[in-house]
Amino acid sequence: MRTLIKNGRILDPASGHDAVGDLWLDAGRVQAITPPGAKRPEPGDEIFEAQGLAVAPGLVDLHVHLREPGEEYKETIASGTRAAAAGGITSLACMPNTDPPVDNLAMVDLIFSKARQQGVVNVYPVACITKGRRGEELAEMGELQAAGVKAVSDDGNPVSSPMLMRSALQYAGMLDLLVINHAEERSLSGKGVAHGGFTAAKLGLSGVPRSALEVMISRDVILAEETGSRIHIPHVSTAGAVRIIREAKQRGVRVTAETAPHYLVLTDECLADYNSNVRVNPPIAEASDREALLAGLADGTLDAVATDHAPHSRREKDMEFVLAAPGISGLETSLSLVLTAVTATGRLSLLETLRRLTSNPARILKVPKGTLAAGADADVVIFDAEGEREIRAAEFVSQSNNTPFDGRRVKGRVLATLVAGRVIHADPAFAVRRSGGLPAGGV
Ligand code: NCD
Ligand code: ZN
Ligand code: ZN
Repeated sequence: MRTLIKNGRILDPASGHDAVGDLWLDAGRVQAITPPGAKRPEPGDEIFEAQGLAVAPGLVDLHVHLREPGEEYKETIASGTRAAAAGGITSLACMPNTDPPVDNLAMVDLIFSKARQQGVVNVYPVACITKGRRGEELAEMGELQAAGVKAVSDDGNPVSSPMLMRSALQYAGMLDLLVINHAEERSLSGKGVAHGGFTAAKLGLSGVPRSALEVMISRDVILAEETGSRIHIPHVSTAGAVRIIREAKQRGVRVTAETAPHYLVLTDECLADYNSNVRVNPPIAEASDREALLAGLADGTLDAVATDHAPHSRREKDMEFVLAAPGISGLETSLSLVLTAVTATGRLSLLETLRRLTSNPARILKVPKGTLAAGADADVVIFDAEGEREIRAAEFVSQSNNTPFDGRRVKGRVLATLVAGRVIHADPAFAVRRSGGLPAGGV
């Protein structure tokens, strides 16, 4: 079946295209982008009127915790991928800190098959760097890569031993696997629960120094430089980390990096009311850090924004700040927070903002996604970039609504998400824009 998305502002960062036009999809793939009205639809074509809306490749999220298997009460592959769809995300990499962890072939196969049966977006399982995420012995990377894994990470845990990390980079390099190391030097972060600045000190919360993140990133950059392998730095949250990555890139180190929406919006002042929903790893730092992250995103030091969607149930969050589990449920607020923090403030054009949410993460993961090129999979997001909305945690599709953004007014609303040409999420307000298609019961 053919689908026409009409009169939208079509943005395709991969090709630099940004103009009003018609997007044609056929048999699950992008067929063409044509000037508005240049080509007429035929009977049976499904039509979406996208006038006044943005039409872009579905977002690619490099960092998601789906919690299945083991913590299905927080999230499942089914609920997490539906939440992704509601956020305009059509491809995601899911982290292996499940129970049991994804450190072997059988577990990778399990994630792939569950995703195929119950997932609605493309799922790329990230496998462990070390067996059991224990940081003692490397996982069977060759086997994992052969099973279709694109990246490895012990996320939640760092690989603390420099020697082991060096071997991980050597093996991963030979297999062209991306290594994502949770950047945290545990001897520095210790029992800290919040950014170790003035606010935490005032509130009596134990602090995590910026060096906990930055020492580990420095080490990883040095090891990536020496081995010539690729390293990806997750959840970058401080100004110093941006500087280290910028300098490494200038030297030609094969380093890429992501930050998360919450670091672009919040500062540690949000700790003031001890809201456990702002407890996250690494902790949210200061206004000067947020400023540096925005600058790093603008100049390309930070390649991507990834949600680090970390769903936790009320059981882990409705308690004292120091006892609450770290993490933010982020799939459904990512696009809006980024549009509000980055695009609306004039720091980046809409096209450049979308590059960091689509083609850049796809390039880092080496998957053929994040583009509207003819022949590409028809993964598309249609959204209102200008309209305002209020975030309502109670309406999350995710099973967990641990967000510090409940009630916040933001820009941007996802109206429809398509994967392989099929609508997998549609806002009720979008129904009036849909017409044509096969009659009910048709073939
Ligand atoms: C993550 C989780 O809950 O799995 N939590 C977090 O605060 N970011 C782990 C992680 O990303 O390191
Ligand atoms: Zn992490
Ligand atoms: Zn994570």
